Amino acid sequence: MHASVHRSLEGTHEHVARRSHGRPLIELSSLVKVYDTGEVPFTALKGIDLVVDEGEFVGLIGKSGSGKTTLINMITGIDRPSSGQVVVDGTPVHALGENALAAWRGRTIGVVFQFFQLLPTLTVVENVMLPMDFCNVHAVRERESYAMALLEQVEMVDQAHKLPAALSGGQQQRVAIARALANDPPILAADEPTGNLDSTTAEAVFGLFEKLVRQGKTIVMVTHDDDLAARVTRALHVRDGEIVEETRSPLKGSGQGHG
Ligand SMILES: Nc1ncnc2c1ncn2[C@@H]1O[C@H](COP(=O)(O)OP(=O)(O)OP(=O)(O)O)[C@@H](O)[C@H]1O
Ligand SMILES: [Mg+2]
Repeated sequence: MHASVHRSLEGTHEHVARRSHGRPLIELSSLVKVYDTGEVPFTALKGIDLVVDEGEFVGLIGKSGSGKTTLINMITGIDRPSSGQVVVDGTPVHALGENALAAWRGRTIGVVFQFFQLLPTLTVVENVMLPMDFCNVHAVRERESYAMALLEQVEMVDQAHKLPAALSGGQQQRVAIARALANDPPILAADEPTGNLDSTTAEAVFGLFEKLVRQGKTIVMVTHDDDLAARVTRALHVRDGEIVEETRSPLKGSGQGHG
């Protein structure tokens, strides 16, 4: 593995082991989203208050149309609130202009989509390197080896020079996760990342998320899968634009005692 991947993972891991509670990383207050399209304005988020601490693995669950995508898009800055505040890693995301927002997102949040969204004309390793060009976190000469180290983490090194079309869905999603980690963001946000995968492949992708949480990442994931929802550390039940219930549990899976 690339030395700096090691360093950053070890660093965050020590940090996780040392603290009992992480610092607040995502803070939503009085968050309202009204969609103005259609004849009557529709309130998709009705005043959400939420604090997510560093190191949490949060699952957003709820029926279709309940507001999960709207909520996660507020956190990533993909969409903007009608009122209320979104503070992520100390940055007031709701107040950023477009350019500042894109630069901020690149460094702070890796986004994983249901349909992978890899660029079809770039190879696997080129897809992983692409976000690095926008953020300048890594020196140009180190980018390829860092991308290869990330591909090693998701067990995709041997496919590095293929085009996405030559990969299975699960393989494409693993590449998309490596790409989301390109600038070493503290947060991953994923909207139904396993929604387009069979259950075995979904399990592998979820296992990768569990590993990343153990390494210190904070993850917010929308899922329809009840089995996976039962395994996050904090499940938030969304209904009609509100968080109506939450359940907390310790991180399951292998390697728990490590560190
Ligand atoms: N661009 C939009 N314009 C108008 N209404 C919208 C828009 N996007 C979402 N909505 C409405 O907001 C509500 C919440 O939508 P959202 O996409 O957040 O739901 P969801 O929980 O992600 O659903 P699903 O599980 O089907 O993905 C829905 O009633 C939806 O119709
Ligand atoms: Mg959705």
